[in-house]
Amino acid sequence: MDALAAPFPTVNSSPLAKTGATKILIVDDERVVRHICQLSLEPESYAIFTAENGIKAMEWLRSEPEIAIVLSDLKMPGMTGLELLNVIKRDFPHVEVIIMTGFATIENAIAAMKLGAHDFLLKPLKAEQIRLVINKCREKIALSQENLALKRANEKLRELQTAKDKFIAITSHELRTPVSHLKGYLAIVNGDDFGALSPAEKHECMSVINSAVLDLEQIVTDMVDLIALEQGTLALRREEIPLRELLEQIVHEFRLAVQERRQTMALHTDGEACVVYADRLQVKIMVAELVQNAIKFTPDYGRIDLSLQQEGEFGVIAVSDTGVGISPENLGRIFEKFFEVQNSDHHSTSKTGFMGGGLGLGLSLARAIAEAHDGGIKVSSQLGRGAKFQIYLPLKPAV
Ligand SMILES: Nc1ncnc2c1ncn2[C@@H]1O[C@H](COP(=O)(O)OP(=O)(O)OP(=O)(O)O)[C@@H](O)[C@H]1O
Ligand SMILES: [Mg+2]
Repeated sequence: MDALAAPFPTVNSSPLAKTGATKILIVDDERVVRHICQLSLEPESYAIFTAENGIKAMEWLRSEPEIAIVLSDLKMPGMTGLELLNVIKRDFPHVEVIIMTGFATIENAIAAMKLGAHDFLLKPLKAEQIRLVINKCREKIALSQENLALKRANEKLRELQTAKDKFIAITSHELRTPVSHLKGYLAIVNGDDFGALSPAEKHECMSVINSAVLDLEQIVTDMVDLIALEQGTLALRREEIPLRELLEQIVHEFRLAVQERRQTMALHTDGEACVVYADRLQVKIMVAELVQNAIKFTPDYGRIDLSLQQEGEFGVIAVSDTGVGISPENLGRIFEKFFEVQNSDHHSTSKTGFMGGGLGLGLSLARAIAEAHDGGIKVSSQLGRGAKFQIYLPLKPAV
């Protein structure tokens, strides 16, 4: 492996110094050939590496992953140019190879092209010819890079299209229920017979309208928060939060839903005093999403357990249920936005009714919140045998 060594003057002061320069490796056992190649290429556009045999060429390729073009002799002692070409195409398929050969071995040059060489140069080499072939090769590389970028952009567009379709399907379904409640009950309120309703009936109307508005507000908040969290633009209002108190509060808030479903919910904290420095509202939303799912995906009379434990530098909140569980193939997808195992057409309207509806955003939101706090969420489940979600939040270091 020689990097522009004497006795010939150095063409590029340092091959590593140039940023944005195309990196070229010249492989030839004749030093004079290597030097002609160097002299033919403008030092400002290329970073040049040289090797006198195939083994050294491979060493350069391994240590300089940005080498884009290899200019290689065919006849060299040890590894031949064709052998080197084969290894490069196997181990570094993105690297373009140009073969240098004399007229006598032109069939080999053609064989090299069949093996994937970009082009060949006939010896004796001429500077103009070298520049031309290398320029063509650079154009090809630029085109295939553009092609790759286009392919990626295309894939991204397809993903966005799928997300948009799901978004429209689910949101229209989820929005329809509160909107139709609003429409129906507002018609009653504005109708001639409203005055004739009993106070209890009037109250019922107003509470349906109220909860429809709250549902609509929740849908919008979930979406806005998720986007802000994913883009890192949601400012976290951190404060000290004793997790046990927060969990007690959440259990209290869900007690009516749990009662309605004849479920049992218990909190086990074993005296753990975990304190995190986090955004109270966000942490509450995150745990509530898991508890809501546990209630929703557990049949009546089922059981939901919440626990708090310390694991090293993390406070771990676990929410487990005895519900429908999640199959292994869906387990990897439930954190995707708008992903729901059950068919959204069969949603019940309640957020805590068995297999109740939703946008399929709760878990994405919960995970984004955990990650925004440098934590994470783990899940384990078996179909038909319940699920267990664990939130990891870094504990506030003791001062
Ligand atoms: N505890 C659980 N048991 C069984 N399946 C679950 C559980 N939690 C989540 N899932 C599955 O993962 C899907 C995604 O959950 P996620 O909370 O993101 O959405 P959702 O509850 O359907 O709607 P949203 O939370 O937006 O109201 C659910 O629709 C359900 O299929
Ligand atoms: Mg949910």
